[in-house]
Amino acid sequence: MRSPAPSSSNPDREGLYRAMRPRVEALIAGAPDLLAAMANTAAVLHAALGVHWTGFYRAQGDALLLGPFQGPPACDRLPFGRGVCGTAWQQGRTLVVPDVDLFPGHIACSALSRSEIVVPVRDPAGTTIAVLDIDSAVPDGFSAVDARYLEPICDLLGSRA
Ligand code: SME
Repeated sequence: MRSPAPSSSNPDREGLYRAMRPRVEALIAGAPDLLAAMANTAAVLHAALGVHWTGFYRAQGDALLLGPFQGPPACDRLPFGRGVCGTAWQQGRTLVVPDVDLFPGHIACSALSRSEIVVPVRDPAGTTIAVLDIDSAVPDGFSAVDARYLEPICDLLGSRA
């Protein structure tokens, strides 16, 4: 098993995001379309953070459909307003969940996920078109530090919509 990345409370976590930021920004700017940008973003984040699952769900009608991801196979359809992803979409804001077992309606695609962060991706009009979902196999895997670095990445992705 891969050793865990610096924890969300470890100052190295900030260094990790700062180090990956230019690469992610270049990949997003140079991608032929949004889907390609999401795919490479998921790959870089997943490898750098050493997490259980990293990926995107795209808003289609009243559901989120599985998009580019890294990690084990996952649920391919999540309803609006349900689970962490559907709630983040409904509320249009980032959700940090330290313990998924304590989140009402959490959708367990994998029994190994213990904590997660979900960040909306908005198009230039401000509509949430997708969410970034990152799952950790340890409790309390994410904090406001992760939100602070992941939100600008998702804004950059949304600008490609
Ligand atoms: N746990 C998420 C579902 C997505 S997977 O974990 C990849 C949720 O509650 O929305």
